[in-house]
Amino acid sequence: MEVLPNGTTPRHSVAVQSPGRINLIGEHTDYNDGYVLPAAIDKKTVMQLKRNGTAHQATVVASNLNESFSFDLQNFSPLPGGWQNYIMGVVHELQKLNADIHGFDAEFEGDIPIGGGMSSSAALECSLAFALNEMFDLGFDKWQLIKASQMAEHNFVGIKCGIMDQFASMMGKKDQVMLLDCRSLEYSYFPLELGAYQILLLNTNVSHSLASSEYNTRRSECEEGVALLKKENPVISSLRDVSLEQLVSHRDRMPKRIFRRIHHVVSENKRVLEATNALLGNNPDVLGKLVYQSHFSLQNDYEVSSPELDFLVQQTIDKDYILGSRMMGGGFGGCTINIIEKGRVAEFVDKVSVTYRNQFGFHPTPYSVSIENGTGEVES
Ligand code: GLA
Repeated sequence: MEVLPNGTTPRHSVAVQSPGRINLIGEHTDYNDGYVLPAAIDKKTVMQLKRNGTAHQATVVASNLNESFSFDLQNFSPLPGGWQNYIMGVVHELQKLNADIHGFDAEFEGDIPIGGGMSSSAALECSLAFALNEMFDLGFDKWQLIKASQMAEHNFVGIKCGIMDQFASMMGKKDQVMLLDCRSLEYSYFPLELGAYQILLLNTNVSHSLASSEYNTRRSECEEGVALLKKENPVISSLRDVSLEQLVSHRDRMPKRIFRRIHHVVSENKRVLEATNALLGNNPDVLGKLVYQSHFSLQNDYEVSSPELDFLVQQTIDKDYILGSRMMGGGFGGCTINIIEKGRVAEFVDKVSVTYRNQFGFHPTPYSVSIENGTGEVES
């Protein structure tokens, strides 16, 4: 029997589950060195991985889609699109770290709605990274797996995403939200206690094709903003270094569009910290107000919302049993996240389903999610 240098025998199969995420507040702040407040949820991807005895042949089956894909681990490159890029991207990033990955067969399925803004892609990346690490005893820590998953998205999928989704999927903890400082990568967990209220997601069931190109555009607009501000103040290396006062004092020296983008990021960072205090102080009312402010900032300053998201948020404003509502994730579709009184969910969903269908011709989908642990092996 083969024995590894650490005295264990090689594993031949692994089953891993990796969750989607919500984000209470802190949108488009992660790639600006800012703060986010996500949590992992009870929607997940499950991956079964096994060695296939070949030196460098991989076959992956996407059960939900009834699709299968094989590639040579020593010779592969990104496709024009598709889930295959998440798989190859993760393998590529781990290989860059000198991972010795042999032939494998993988099969995955899940219940995270694709395009729903709950990070189905991060869950897929993290499940594969974690499973490969376990089965081939690669010895990476969770941060290396998170980074490799994020870089898969940059280099194989073409989205220059931040770290939030992969972090939340990998590091989630049952019933806890996480405050992550995307600059220092320090994080802390604390319970999500909303008293008489709960989280409700409403999926617009729309995912606009604009999402990826506009995402990268926003990122470069922020970089443009940093470059402008840096000229006058060389210590500024990211939008995290900018205060609202500083920004306002530079208002006349930058394009209006860039001003609005930065205004969102700087004010959103402030809101994340205020929201954290509101949660810790058992103050869901204040949290709700910040959540609304976040939406309007994403809608007007950052311009990443959509008519469907705005409509769903508008439908909550006259309901005194809803404290806050906003678009969640990258934008241009996906879900809203709502803080709603327990016991009024069915009433609200009934109402909003009718008005939404009258407006757009189809229903939104509600999800009452629970907060769960991050990526790990499936307990048998
Ligand atoms: C997507 C990205 C994240 C983050 C959000 C917006 O989900 O993957 O890194 O930037 O959008 O907050």
